[in-house]
Amino acid sequence: MEYLPLIIGNKKTKYPLVQGGMGVGISLGGLAGAVAKVGGIGLISSAQIGFQEEDFEENPFEANLRAMEKEYKKARAQAPDGIIGFNIMVALQHYKEYVIQAAKVGADIIVSGAGLATELPAYVKGFATKIAPIVSGERAAELLLKVWDRKYRTTADMVVIEGPLAGGHLGFPKEEVEAITPEEYEGTIQKIIRVVKEYAVKYGRKIPVVVAGGMDSPEQVKRVLELGADGVQVASSFVTTVECDAAEGFKQKYIEAGCKDIQLVTSPVGMPGRAIRNAFIEQIEAGIREPISKCYGCLRKCNPAEIPYCITKALITSARGDGENGLVFCGAGTYKITKISTVQEVIEKLFKKC
Ligand SMILES: Cc1cc2nc3c(=O)[nH]c(=O)nc-3n(C[C@H](O)[C@H](O)[C@H](O)COP(=O)(O)O)c2cc1C
Repeated sequence: MEYLPLIIGNKKTKYPLVQGGMGVGISLGGLAGAVAKVGGIGLISSAQIGFQEEDFEENPFEANLRAMEKEYKKARAQAPDGIIGFNIMVALQHYKEYVIQAAKVGADIIVSGAGLATELPAYVKGFATKIAPIVSGERAAELLLKVWDRKYRTTADMVVIEGPLAGGHLGFPKEEVEAITPEEYEGTIQKIIRVVKEYAVKYGRKIPVVVAGGMDSPEQVKRVLELGADGVQVASSFVTTVECDAAEGFKQKYIEAGCKDIQLVTSPVGMPGRAIRNAFIEQIEAGIREPISKCYGCLRKCNPAEIPYCITKALITSARGDGENGLVFCGAGTYKITKISTVQEVIEKLFKKC
């Protein structure tokens, strides 16, 4: 099978590959730069990216803005000509400011999900930064592209279709994630591709579509390319690479996880998430609720009095390497990972001729 590059503005990748953004602290400048250097699109997650800054507890917003610049420079130093961007979730408080900061520091692309990024074109106006929404269903794709077309006379530079096997927060109700099979989801992928094509025709340019969630073998890659996609977005497979910014304890949890350890959890974000079962999840399921003593103001809609746990604290705990007492997000296929590898090895395995 011949693999074509993804074209973003005046740059192109070697492989039709996007490394999915992973917060908190999993895809930072180290991983994104390494992926961009080998020939994919590397994405830094902006979610509480400043958690390692000294003043994060007092000024999380400023710490995050500062860390965005630092991590971008770290990635760029590794891949001066590569495609490097940010994953910025729409559900975040200060979404607009994070988008503008990403554009200011020089990001090639901003990928946004966890909500509909209806205002994204306005925020990057005047910058060279390209924009890509993440959608899980046909309706969201239609709605978003229609709003961008009517309100801003523009369209997407790339579209990510995130399916039910993905890691982190999922764009479907829990019952749907459990019911829908990968084969059934293929129909949705094709419908979304058709919607995107309409706008590609209207704007007279190609809009690459990449599929995310469980893209961990050359057969999977081949299958979605046959369905009409232009590439894949891969996340979990990169967690256990030497270059990944995750703490060793986080990577170890991936290596140890068996099929039965991977489950869905409810999240204060208001979407289900997929994670590795551990003491933290058992505690939540048992209804034990730790008092929330501090709000980091991460989400636009969150009432600390009503949520089962603080998502920032849960993700920072695991990002620091405590795989038992924090939330360890992962994709459905994580149980297949058995060892630490390198970014180059993961990419070569995915795009092996089959
Ligand atoms: C640890 C982890 C953290 C993630 N964090 C984010 C995030 O902050 N924003 C986002 O849009 N997607 C996030 N995702 C989803 C990925 O970007 C990606 O789309 C998905 O996991 C792809 O599926 P795969 O892991 O099976 O390759 C996360 C996934 C994982 C595994």
